[in-house]
Amino acid sequence: MARDDVLNLPLNAVRVLVTGAGGPAAVSVLKSLGADQTVTLLAADMDPWAAGLYLVPPEARTLIPAGLDPGFVEATLARCIAMDADVLVPTVDAELRPLARARAQFARAGIALLLAPDEALDVTLDKLALAQRCAGRAPVPRTERLDRATDPGSWTYPVVVKPRTGSGSRDISVVRSAQDLARMDTSGDFLVQQYLPGAEYSVDVLADASGRVVASVPRVRERVDSGVSVAGRTLHDAELERLGATVAEATGVTYIANVQFRRDAAGRPALLEVNPRVPGTLPLTVASGVDMPRMALDSLRGRPMPERAGFRDMAMVRFLEERFVPLGDVERVAA
Ligand SMILES: Nc1ncnc2c1ncn2[C@@H]1O[C@H](COP(=O)(O)OP(=O)(O)O)[C@@H](O)[C@H]1O
Ligand SMILES: [Mg+2]
Repeated sequence: MARDDVLNLPLNAVRVLVTGAGGPAAVSVLKSLGADQTVTLLAADMDPWAAGLYLVPPEARTLIPAGLDPGFVEATLARCIAMDADVLVPTVDAELRPLARARAQFARAGIALLLAPDEALDVTLDKLALAQRCAGRAPVPRTERLDRATDPGSWTYPVVVKPRTGSGSRDISVVRSAQDLARMDTSGDFLVQQYLPGAEYSVDVLADASGRVVASVPRVRERVDSGVSVAGRTLHDAELERLGATVAEATGVTYIANVQFRRDAAGRPALLEVNPRVPGTLPLTVASGVDMPRMALDSLRGRPMPERAGFRDMAMVRFLEERFVPLGDVERVAA
């Protein structure tokens, strides 16, 4: 058996392009997969100053347009083909749906996407659809579309109003009265949700290529600086571990996803959202013993996954680290 593995190694060698190289999620994937001898890393970003570009050799760096750019898919596919990529790992929210829509085009070019199925993206990238999907399977705060039919008198205040498809806490407001709610955007793009006052948790979930959950690792953001967790710890909590897995399975996400909860006034954890992609604080989960990027790539490659992967309690503090490159390197990427 071991002999077969050795003989198969060259066949299993893969070239993996990671997008969003300027962000912590991409850097965590680059660090994890960098330890896999069968992986050649490639890095992409829209900005030549993206740090992760300089974690790979010069010929493995590329610029691509922003996910919202109409030319994003075509340019990214062209770069994947030119760089002979076998696998594309998107780490930027705005890239997920455009890439999912082009999945067949990528497949025809021999490129696999480390990305949840379209149906799972539809459910997780719309927080209203997510609440509806998970109701009855996991605790979900009261969540409704904010539109002209909304009855402000039927809510207990405060409530949260947020975009159905938002990210990065953009356009979220805490609304304290029925009068204030009556004045909010009723376009149908926003939802109104019961306010959850308690402690907040992120649960990193690894599911295999078929959506079977292999690991569920809760963690706490102990310190946050400019939206990025700079200190945190993993947490053994059977309820959160189970809820993370339940929500992931209810949505059909595959590979790596991040499920967020917050406790209600009675102290019960309730679902906030699911990010169907690599979270920025994944290094903590990797350090706790579950190397999610390597395992996700293994599953994509058809390698067997363990029944269940456990984790150790681990604390993380973080700092900025410099990488120095000749100025010409940046100019070459930008050219
Ligand atoms: N119903 C809620 N009750 C209390 N806080 C909330 C609620 N919804 C969102 N928040 C706060 O806003 C943050 C961002 O909301 P979230 O639903 O995670 O959207 P996103 O991260 O995609 O912008 C959460 O981490 C949480 O602190
Ligand atoms: Mg969030």
